[in-house]
Amino acid sequence: MEICIVGAGYVGLTTAAALAVFGHEVECVDMDQAKINGLIQGKVPIYEPGLEDLITEYYSKNRLHFSSNVKESIKDHPIILIAVGTPSQNDGSCNLNFINQVIEIIASTINKYKIIITKSTVPPGTNELIHQTFIEMGIKDNLFDIVSNPEFLREGRALWDIFHPNKLVFGTKIDRPLEVLKKIYQKESAPFVFTSLTGAEMIKYASNVFLATKISFANEMARICDVFQVDYTDLQKGLGMDPRIGTDFLNAGLGFGGSCLPKDLSSLKHSALSHKLETKLLDAVMEINDTQIELYLKKLSTVLLNLTDKQITVWGVTFKPGTDDLRSSPALVLIQQLIQKGCRVHAYDPMVQLKLIDVISHLNQYESLNNSDALIIATEWEQFLNCNWSEVKSRMKGSIVLDARNCLDGETVRRQGLVYMGVGIR
Ligand code: UDX
Repeated sequence: MEICIVGAGYVGLTTAAALAVFGHEVECVDMDQAKINGLIQGKVPIYEPGLEDLITEYYSKNRLHFSSNVKESIKDHPIILIAVGTPSQNDGSCNLNFINQVIEIIASTINKYKIIITKSTVPPGTNELIHQTFIEMGIKDNLFDIVSNPEFLREGRALWDIFHPNKLVFGTKIDRPLEVLKKIYQKESAPFVFTSLTGAEMIKYASNVFLATKISFANEMARICDVFQVDYTDLQKGLGMDPRIGTDFLNAGLGFGGSCLPKDLSSLKHSALSHKLETKLLDAVMEINDTQIELYLKKLSTVLLNLTDKQITVWGVTFKPGTDDLRSSPALVLIQQLIQKGCRVHAYDPMVQLKLIDVISHLNQYESLNNSDALIIATEWEQFLNCNWSEVKSRMKGSIVLDARNCLDGETVRRQGLVYMGVGIR
């Protein structure tokens, strides 16, 4: 099948590569000429394990193409898959400018039947509105079908997720496009969920909001454990053994970040509010997340007393391990707050060198510790878990290790004469 994918970001590129592997003829388009030029030369603009190799392979097999001529490509293809960004606006609502631009191009060029698939995360009601807009513009409903087909890819594991989905969600107004959709994804073995346009949008939002809720629940339980001197990891183990609860998304720490969870939470709240519906649970999830960093700073203050002029090393700046993405990274907020409190901040991350005034970025994990009063683990990269704690001790001036991801073995750290602190850990 011939498919045009609009948007060469995380979702667009991963989907383009996967659909090429499934045997389709895919053209991925983006207005960003520099990005497209880079892709043509085999340079993938994001870090996603395995993606560059796959893109290079299928580009050279002539099954995957790149172009910045968005209009032409949209006009020529019978299947358009929209994977453009839907970032947050200042008020927390979703910015649909990129979606609207694509819709305008489709509407102005459509001359034969097209299936228009929205992969981007959009607020409930958006795809219905797109359908209505087409009709109001005089486009006959036998010329198009709109499909809401959200993605559930995790950064850093996007290829695994796209080749092993737990479900494929399709929201449509009528059954007409279903056979084509089944063919696009026929190589996947996951069950299909067929629903309405808005139903599919809601499944996507509810999934991310549920994950965020689990994390805030974990963080609140960890706070309570802290007060009662209970090891949160014991609680986590016990909770996770109940299959009704499950083991995933119960790690306590600095809170959730990234380009999806915080954005989708605010966007859904905004959508509900626009219908005068309060979202008390969502508000609490957000509030807990927003106060996690404060909690860790308080912890640090209890041992260092005054943070002014203290040298603090932060290990990990990305929003989670396995990615180079800094969007809504709790580690970055932590660093900014440390600076505001007068700390001298040194940072090390295996993937990213921070270019921030007031932060000294290091290329070497251990050199970042020289003369520091405290070390904070802000992102749980594998190499921090099994590091040389005796070297850590010998380089630092102080001895505080604040494990803001509850990812270390406290006893191993303490054995080197360091003071280990987590949240919810004795
Ligand atoms: C998320 C969803 O998981 C994915 O299905 C969706 O398509 C896009 O959004 P992603 O943003 O890549 O994926 O990150 P995810 O792995 O979900 O982690 C989000 C944040 O939660 C990270 O900051 C992570 O550190 C934090 N987290 C995760 C916790 O604090 N505790 C946990 O137990 C799990």
